[in-house]
Amino acid sequence: MSSLLVEIDPVVQTKDGDPLGSVFIETYGCQMNVSDSELMRGVLGDAGFSSADSIQEADVVLLNTCAIREHAEERVLGRLSQLRHLKTRKPDLVLGVCGCMAKHMSEKLMDRLPYVDLVLGPDSYRDLADLVVRSRNEPSLSVRLDRAEHYDGVDPVRTDGVNAWVTVQRGCDKFCTFCVVPYVRGRERSVRSDEVVRQVEVAAADGFKEVTLLGQTVNSYHDGVCDFPELLRRLSNVQGIDRVRFTSPHPSDFDDRLIATIAEVDEICKFVHLPVQSGSTKVLKRMQRTYSRESYLALVERLREEIPSLALSTDIIVGFPDETAGDFEETLELVRRVRFDFAFMFKYSEREGTVAHREIPDTVPETEKSSRLESLIELQSRISAEVNNEYIGSVLDVLVEGKARKGKGRVYGKSDGFKTVVFTSEALPNTIVPVRITSATQKTLLGEVTA
Ligand code: SAH
Ligand code: SF4
Ligand code: F3S
Repeated sequence: MSSLLVEIDPVVQTKDGDPLGSVFIETYGCQMNVSDSELMRGVLGDAGFSSADSIQEADVVLLNTCAIREHAEERVLGRLSQLRHLKTRKPDLVLGVCGCMAKHMSEKLMDRLPYVDLVLGPDSYRDLADLVVRSRNEPSLSVRLDRAEHYDGVDPVRTDGVNAWVTVQRGCDKFCTFCVVPYVRGRERSVRSDEVVRQVEVAAADGFKEVTLLGQTVNSYHDGVCDFPELLRRLSNVQGIDRVRFTSPHPSDFDDRLIATIAEVDEICKFVHLPVQSGSTKVLKRMQRTYSRESYLALVERLREEIPSLALSTDIIVGFPDETAGDFEETLELVRRVRFDFAFMFKYSEREGTVAHREIPDTVPETEKSSRLESLIELQSRISAEVNNEYIGSVLDVLVEGKARKGKGRVYGKSDGFKTVVFTSEALPNTIVPVRITSATQKTLLGEVTA
């Protein structure tokens, strides 16, 4: 437990002995934010805040936000304008915006939305409780990035799921020209490996069998003594941990030692999310991705040679400035060649503050971006369905997550290769069950329990 001291101004303690109030955190964006929200719950819980079951009941509402694409910020702005009405009915409510968009918009958020009490960047959560208390009297803004902040010693409060997120690296030094992350999360830094091991031991003691290590370029992890393959080995030896996952590795930092480690260590899941962004070397160069189409394909080949059962997914951006029809065709061709298990596909969205925003005009028309995205999704959906069909007849170990939404008596969970598998069983969440796959769709495998 961290010993966070909060100065409590007596005027904010509404009733005798009343706790500091209850907090509801709504999370947007990537797993890094899910993990940060758990960290925030840890900080607030240690300081004496309780957690609210709904926004309506809460004394403090925090939105943990994302800035990766314009749409992500628009969603939060829409949500804030809804919450404004709640604040009118409940003037004592503290409304806070945290995370990447808080850093990205900073003062502009408070200027545009005077009903927001608190704006907090991703390196300010250690002071969260204190700042919430202060913001009851005056608006608070804390968006300074701190390259020394690793949140060592702060234990997250995990509320659901069978997977424990563990942030092992914060920030990013790659500065891909399209991306806002280095500006909103600061410089790359690795959490000390002893602290990572301690956190994974805590998760195992809490009953988690699966951990996912998080970092923007997680395979460039290095704490001065321990690198990423070594960290993976250390964590797979933690008693009680059956599955170790990680996301997202950068293709340029994927060396043969890491491939060998994934191949050799049973606990490391045979699944890699390997963002490619584009199939055209020319576009990759302008994105400053530091690898080419050829070196990416060579990496995929080496991975598949060493780990034949490997499942692969990716991220792709369409319509990056000056992407021609021919460049886009190269992306389609790479997707046909690699046959990813699944992909996250996006239209390029220009972000203020990035190199592309300053130097590379957003030239591809919106209608062209949409039609490219549509054809890419169509292609990948067909491939995902075909790849999933190939699993029919095989037996997969499934870590049960909970009851399936459809079908009485059915549960769902994930295979080692990150496939969602649905089957009839009374197995409880957090148990691992062998399942024979009987049919498949583009998104899901269906099966039955085998002996
Ligand atoms: N660190 C990870 C990516 C994190 S952001 C990596 O390098 O792979 C997740 C994904 O969002 C990226 O992989 C990219 O595909 C997408 N993305 C990032 N910036 C974007 C932008 N400006 N427009 C559209 N998609 C973007
Ligand atoms: Fe963004 Fe590139 Fe860093 Fe990923 S590696 S977070 S895309 S700058
Ligand atoms: Fe993640 Fe969005 Fe921030 S993708 S790192 S929450 S900008």
